[in-house]
Amino acid sequence: MAKRTKIKALLDGSKVGETVTVMGWVRTFRNNQFIALNDGSSLSNLQIVVDFENEDPAKLKRITTSASISATGKLVASQGRGQTVELIAEQLEILGDSDAEKYPLQPKKHSLEFLREIAHLRFRTNTFSAIFRIRHHLAIAIHQYFHEKGFYYIHSPIITGSDAEGAGEMFRVTTLPFENPPKTENGEINFKKDFFGKSTNLTVSGQLEAELAALAMGEVYTFGPTFRAENSNTSRHLAEFWMIEPEVAFNDLDDNMDLAEGLLKYTIKHVIEHCAEELAFLETRLLEEEKQKPQHERSEMALREKLMFCLENEFQRLTYTEAIDILKNSNPNKKGKFQYPIEAWGADLQSEHERYLVEKHFKKPVILTDYPKQIKAFYMKLNDDNNTVRAMDILFPGIGEIVGGSQREERLDVLMARMEEMHIPLEEMQWFLDTRRFGTVPHAGFGLGFERLVLFVTGMGNIRDVIPFPRFPGSAEF
Ligand code: 4AD
Ligand code: MG
Repeated sequence: MAKRTKIKALLDGSKVGETVTVMGWVRTFRNNQFIALNDGSSLSNLQIVVDFENEDPAKLKRITTSASISATGKLVASQGRGQTVELIAEQLEILGDSDAEKYPLQPKKHSLEFLREIAHLRFRTNTFSAIFRIRHHLAIAIHQYFHEKGFYYIHSPIITGSDAEGAGEMFRVTTLPFENPPKTENGEINFKKDFFGKSTNLTVSGQLEAELAALAMGEVYTFGPTFRAENSNTSRHLAEFWMIEPEVAFNDLDDNMDLAEGLLKYTIKHVIEHCAEELAFLETRLLEEEKQKPQHERSEMALREKLMFCLENEFQRLTYTEAIDILKNSNPNKKGKFQYPIEAWGADLQSEHERYLVEKHFKKPVILTDYPKQIKAFYMKLNDDNNTVRAMDILFPGIGEIVGGSQREERLDVLMARMEEMHIPLEEMQWFLDTRRFGTVPHAGFGLGFERLVLFVTGMGNIRDVIPFPRFPGSAEF
C-alpha cells in the first residue's frame, strides 16, 4: 500500500504544501464535498475536500459514514473554520464499503449502556478512542516508572494451583469432561487425571510469585491479567482485570507507601503531559453528563483540576484505628445514613466509608494502614499488638480502594501460625515458605488495579467502560 501519514502528524500544520496519503474511516460527508476522516491517531478528524464535479458519482455515493477510504492530495491551510489544515483530494479510493443505514453508530449521542452492547464498534467513538489511548499511555507510564527505578518486569503465571489471596474466588481450569469425570475411591473428582495432574485455576494475583523473584532480584513488578469469580455486580469490579504488583526486598510499609504514591503521581502526570486533547474532551463529556445530576451529586472539581489536585497534595496517611474513630463520630454514622453503620473496631470498611473519608472528611487521597488481622490476607506482617497487620490501602475520590498492599510476614514461624489459623493448606505452599527458610528478609509490595486507575484518570463512572471487553457476572461477550 501507499505509505500513509497519520492524521495526528498533519494537524500541527508543519506539512502544509506537501502531498500526502491518509487512510481512515469516514465520520461524515457533507455537501458531497467535505469528508471528516478519522484514523484513530487523534480525536481530531482531517477534512478532505473532494472535487465532486470531476469525481465519479458512483464513487461519491460510496463515501458513507464508517466506510474506509484512502485519500491522496495536497495539504493546505484551511479556508474554513474549525480546522487548521485540510487535504485537497487528488486521488480517492474506497477501501471498504459500509451501509450507513445498517451501521449501528449513528451521528448522534449514544448511551454508554448501548455502546457496551456493541463493544466491538465502540472504539470508533470519540469517547472510547480517547479512553483507550489514555489506557495505553498509562500502561507505558507504569513500565517507565519501574524501569527508571531499576525494577525487573516479571511474568507471573496465569494458570496456578494456589489461591494467592486465600479468598476462594477462583475460576477453575480443567480439561476433565463434565459428564462422568474420573472419580477417586471416595467418589471425589480425581484431579490426578486432569491436564496438570492437579486442580488448577486462573490466578487471582501474581503476588506470591513476585515475592519469590523479589527475594532474589530485589525489586520486581508484575503487570498482567487477574481473575476473580466474586459475584460483585458493581461499577468498580470486573471478573477479569489487570493488576500491577511491585514487590521489593528490604522495604518496609513506609517505603511501600512512598513507592505507591510515587507511582500514582507519576502516571497521572504522564497522562496530563501526553493526552491533553483526550483529557479536555473527557472533561467536557463529564461536565455535560453531570448537568443531568442534582447539584449535590456533581463533582466539586473538573477532571483536570482533580488530577492536578492529586499531584499537588500529599496523600493523607492514618491508621485504620484512627479512621474508625472518625467514621464512628461522623454525621452520616450518627444520623444512620450509612448502609453499614460503624459500631465497633474490627468492622470491614465498605465503599461508602472509604468515600466518606476521602471525599468528605479529608478531601484528598488517603492511605489507611494497620488493619485488624481478621479482615486481611494471611501474608501480611503481624504487628507487635498481635491484633493488627502492616497493611495499607490507598483510597481515591470517586473510586474507593485503588491500591491494596502490605509489608509481608517474613518470619517463618509467625507466617505458618497465621496460615494454620486461616486454614491455608501448608503442604501445597512449601515453595512459598522456602523463601522464609532460606535467607528471609523484610519485604513489601502492593497491587494497583489498572482499570481503577484508568477509571480515575478518564473520569468515567463505570469500570466496564475502561477495558475493551469487560467480563462480569452474566457477561463474557466478544
Ligand atoms: O486488594 P487486592 O485484592 O490485593 C491483592 O490482590 C494483593 N495480592 C496485592 C499485592 O499486595 N500484591 O487487589 C489489589 C487491587 C485493589 O486495590 C483494586 O484496585 C484491584 O486490585 N481490584 C479489582 N479491580 C477490578 N475488579 C476487581 N474485581 C478487583 N479486585 C481488586
Ligand atoms: Mg484489597
